[in-house]
Amino acid sequence: MSDGRPAANLGKDLVGLEPLSGDQILTILDTAEPFKEISERQIKKVPVLRGQTIVNLFFEPSTRTRISFEFAEKRLSADTVNVSATGSSVEKGETLVDTARNLEAMRIDMVVMRHGAAGAAQFLGDRISSNVINAGDGQHEHPTQALLDLLTLRDEFGGLDDLRVCIVGDILHSRVARSNIWGLLRVGADVAVCGPQTLIPRGLEELGVKVFPHIETAIEWCEALYVLRLQLERMNAGFVPSLQEYNRVYGVTSERLDRSDDEIPILHPGPMNRGVEIDSDVADGPHSLILPQVTNGVAVRMAVLYLLSGGEPEKADAAKEGEA
Ligand code: CP
Repeated sequence: MSDGRPAANLGKDLVGLEPLSGDQILTILDTAEPFKEISERQIKKVPVLRGQTIVNLFFEPSTRTRISFEFAEKRLSADTVNVSATGSSVEKGETLVDTARNLEAMRIDMVVMRHGAAGAAQFLGDRISSNVINAGDGQHEHPTQALLDLLTLRDEFGGLDDLRVCIVGDILHSRVARSNIWGLLRVGADVAVCGPQTLIPRGLEELGVKVFPHIETAIEWCEALYVLRLQLERMNAGFVPSLQEYNRVYGVTSERLDRSDDEIPILHPGPMNRGVEIDSDVADGPHSLILPQVTNGVAVRMAVLYLLSGGEPEKADAAKEGEA
């Protein structure tokens, strides 16, 4: 990684981390740094995106991502509108592109979209002139989640190069895993996954990702453990014998972590299934980074909005003081 990093040059849209370079990813993280402080102010508002109109188009449920984007937009003084499938003309059969083109006819600048179909963000970005930010598309990518995870890991360890991170759980169905794998590899981290064979996609080793079938060896190897939600809605397809069995074999428990000589920071994107993939004493314990992840989500999303709106990374500090 070069230290004199270039401008991010993210292009029009952010659809995933796979197309980005390590330098681009690190520039986004660097740009998020000055934005962290805005959320600690009593009056959490700066004029960075004044006059910009952003539509949050959420076709799937979300708590963290939707609210975090909305806070990021409002704290940067953008005008925002929230649209969900329920209650919109999508329920009457309107297509995604028709919905977006109608929004564009009202002169919007950006769309933040969560959609159940992999590729939906790219599809939309190719068809409208507004910036499109992927807030999770099917099982494809969830780039801002991975960016906030990388920022949290960098805060904890001081750097990401050669950091050993293991992602444990339902890798197969997880857009969070996919974005984290790309992001971590791009910035030079060592990446592993762990879980039942039925929930590990093929071909990961070819990307340089280690695969641990046993959580105990994964814990021995890693410096940070990223726990994924077991996607219960898919479990009737027989990917694991039962939730109790999954917890017994792969659950991240304090007993398992205590066997390590090191204190291992724990991440989870939420929502959690307590007592399934993670026990409450780990989720709420002293090494949990789960709430710092959520806090960092607002700053990372501010950085992405700022950069896609044409902001220059090195001017972010001045921009938030209304000087650039
Ligand atoms: N991490 C995440 O995407 O959470 P939400 O589904 O609540 O947005």
